[in-house]
Amino acid sequence: MDSFAFIIHPISVKRDVQRKYPFLGRILSERQIEFFSQYFPPVYISEIEGITSEATGKQIRGWLIACPFTPRQMLELPEGRVYNKIVQTGRMAEKLGAQILGLGAFTSVVGDAGVSIADRLAVPVTTGDAYTIAIAVESIIKAAELMDIPLRDASVAVVGATGAIGQVCAELLSEQAAHLALIGRRADALEELRARLKVKGRSEIVVSTDMAPLADAQLILTVTSAVHAVIHPEHLRPGSVVCDVARPRDVSAMVAAARDDIFVIDGGMVDVPGPVDFHFNFGFPPGKAYACMAETMALALEGRFEDYTLGRQITRARVDEITAIARKHGFRLGGFRSFEKEVTQEQIEAVRRNARRRQK
Ligand SMILES: NC(=O)c1ccc[n+]([C@@H]2O[C@H](COP(=O)([O-])OP(=O)(O)OC[C@H]3O[C@@H](n4cnc5c(N)ncnc54)[C@H](OP(=O)(O)O)[C@@H]3O)[C@@H](O)[C@H]2O)c1
Repeated sequence: MDSFAFIIHPISVKRDVQRKYPFLGRILSERQIEFFSQYFPPVYISEIEGITSEATGKQIRGWLIACPFTPRQMLELPEGRVYNKIVQTGRMAEKLGAQILGLGAFTSVVGDAGVSIADRLAVPVTTGDAYTIAIAVESIIKAAELMDIPLRDASVAVVGATGAIGQVCAELLSEQAAHLALIGRRADALEELRARLKVKGRSEIVVSTDMAPLADAQLILTVTSAVHAVIHPEHLRPGSVVCDVARPRDVSAMVAAARDDIFVIDGGMVDVPGPVDFHFNFGFPPGKAYACMAETMALALEGRFEDYTLGRQITRARVDEITAIARKHGFRLGGFRSFEKEVTQEQIEAVRRNARRRQK
């Protein structure tokens, strides 16, 4: 049976360590976990069963394996050391017999976004970013429909617009929305992106190195690699929709607590075809996976055992191709969750009501 492996790592540090080691996760502080994890080897998590193509009936199996580093460590430890640990985790995938390896969360953000890691491994590698882009954009479009925000007239913002995922999301949205704000940290990179998008897009584009444009944005897609939340309640306009694709999250938990007039959705959740069992709770309802995991699975179902999405220059052609492959095998946008809870129709109506009241 064809197979894949996917690397995860602790993001919400104490809670995620508890998922595998309940006792250690309870007694150790976040600082202690970060200290010990520097010396911890890669961890075998579980075998994944039941993924079945809707198109061909082909079944695959997979493995979740964990790199013990946290997002902060991935960004702060010397790059060579982080690569070594991810490659060591990749070797576990090779020993298990995986035919393709997906890099989850920050293992795909570090350094050159998978290129050096793929060079050092025999197993083909993908970051999963191409399908993450497709699902993020689909999510914000569906959410806009639910909130009755016509995309063609809308003010849209992409936060983290100069990143691997952000750039292509911005490109796709610039073809549809009336106004687009590109937000990032580097003014020169933002200007370069604006110049590129102006050629083909229809949006009027502004760039910013702070969150000020969010005060006008009706639709926000946020996908930074910040370690702490960057979007706070005071940044947001009543009735706006924020699709948070970043892990760790970009949107502060305070938004849920303080703003009942904003619709925040978790980006990147996908329905997996077949009676999938991950034998591990990574925080999603049964049958659902992150889009980056789904890309790895879809490639395995398609038999495309080759380096796939790597680096920070992802092409539209790649996004379109993986979208078609994933659709063919039965992967679909997996509904909406907000801060890990199911979104109900009543909630959406309440957000719209509260936004109308605030706007008055
Ligand atoms: N949900 C999913 O299925 C899924 C899949 C894959 C990845 N992800 C998540 O997506 C996020 C981005 O991944 P990526 O590969 O696109 O990363 P990336 O290429 O490193 O891009 C990150 C972007 O965030 C910006 N940024 C970083 N720190 C920031 C801060 N403190 N404030 C404002 N902007 C900041 C960067 O600006 P500069 O250009 O100035 O550096 C860049 O624009 C990560 O959180 C990752 O875990 C989610």
